[in-house]
Amino acid sequence: MATDIDTLKRDNAQYLWHPMAHPQAMRNARPDIIAKGQGCWVWDIDGHKLLDGVAGLWSSNLGHSCKPVRDAIVAQLDELPFFNTFRGTTHPRAIELSTQLVALMRPDGVAAVMFGNGGSDSVEAALKLSRQFHKLRGDKDRSKFIALRQGYHGVHFGGMSVNGNTNFRRNYEPLLPGCFHIDSPWLYRNAYTQDEAELGRIVAQQLDREITFQGADTVAAFIAEPIQGAGGLIVPPANFWPLVRAVCDKHGVLLIADEVVTGFGRTGQMFGTRLWGVQADLWCLAKGISSGYVPLGATAIGQKVAAVFDADSSAAGQITHGYTYSAHPVAAAAAIATLKVLVDEDIPGHVARVGPAFQQRLRALVQRHDFVGDVRGHGLMLGIEMVADQASRAPLPKTSDIPARVARAAYERGLMVRVSGPNLILSPPLVITTAELDFLCDALEAAFAQVADEIARVK
Ligand SMILES: Cc1ncc(COP(=O)(O)O)c(C=O)c1O
Repeated sequence: MATDIDTLKRDNAQYLWHPMAHPQAMRNARPDIIAKGQGCWVWDIDGHKLLDGVAGLWSSNLGHSCKPVRDAIVAQLDELPFFNTFRGTTHPRAIELSTQLVALMRPDGVAAVMFGNGGSDSVEAALKLSRQFHKLRGDKDRSKFIALRQGYHGVHFGGMSVNGNTNFRRNYEPLLPGCFHIDSPWLYRNAYTQDEAELGRIVAQQLDREITFQGADTVAAFIAEPIQGAGGLIVPPANFWPLVRAVCDKHGVLLIADEVVTGFGRTGQMFGTRLWGVQADLWCLAKGISSGYVPLGATAIGQKVAAVFDADSSAAGQITHGYTYSAHPVAAAAAIATLKVLVDEDIPGHVARVGPAFQQRLRALVQRHDFVGDVRGHGLMLGIEMVADQASRAPLPKTSDIPARVARAAYERGLMVRVSGPNLILSPPLVITTAELDFLCDALEAAFAQVADEIARVK
């Protein structure tokens, strides 16, 4: 028999430590226990129906009841629930998924893939493979990594060390040595310019100077998200990635694109790097790869990197990395079905069609409320930054409860959004209809208006 609601709420506070939360806070705060999902909607345990404005967590891109993905999972459970892919062992779904993913990424110059269980795994593999690539080429000192401030690359020691937000690092220091950060190409908050192209040039030059300062022969890779997600939805200037590619090439540094959020259609392109017309050397993939149905991460390996491994016949070229559940058959089956729906139904095309109106409508919040500083994003990823003062762009104090209040007001109107620092982050399922997007915008506008009223009343 299912556990009753009060017991679930009590046990959640007692026994479950939530990611990114203080265990004590979970005892005091009301948990949102999500109990059911259908299409772009979820229901909490109290029966409250919500539009899923976060796609689980940038993941449930095909919604919560995609029959082909569900059927593929069930069929796989009947056929082979698990076997490993270590060394000489493999299984049909692992082979089929690798073949299909490489075919999908052929225009990006991808030659092979390896699998893990999520985004953090995919980053770890990319960092490790980039060091091994240089060692194989005889560049034994190339071990350092450079990344962007505000970047987010997961929580393993490597990814955490390249994260550009100290929040995720302080409690677990000391970290991996040899990780350095340059400024984010963030138009709304930077010390240099309000001209996009100039900003792109300035930050790319910073990368150039940092590599030179470190000694190019000590730098393995530069890692960045094509659009920075968790760090506050920072869309770089259009010239940034092409310039970064050129800087990396000039210094023999590998370029790792962390596409955990931007991959598989979220930006209106199948991959975020395609927005910028750039090929990376390694790609980190997760979330939308299996539409969140089963945990899966992948690291895609570009031809340049693969060629060096292919040419090696020594023990140094062996991949001494991988997990029990790398290419788990059920996850692989879910991903194969996901890729088919993404391609057959041209989901990136749908995002490209509905994204601009969605972005434009919510950008108007800046005109309406002086505590909204900036609304930015691309496709179906959007961030709303709240500020203490719109004119001076003074940041919201860390203690401000305004973002949480807006999120709660939205929740009460049937919309789930995510708070990240001073930002509300929206990343609905990619299959969302225009009617559902209208509902999302109506609910969010009403939530902002409610909090604006409350603020005005206490002034
Ligand atoms: C860009 C990026 N990289 C890596 C990760 C880590 O993924 P996971 O939480 O699946 O380990 C995330 C998670 O949100 C992410 O946004």
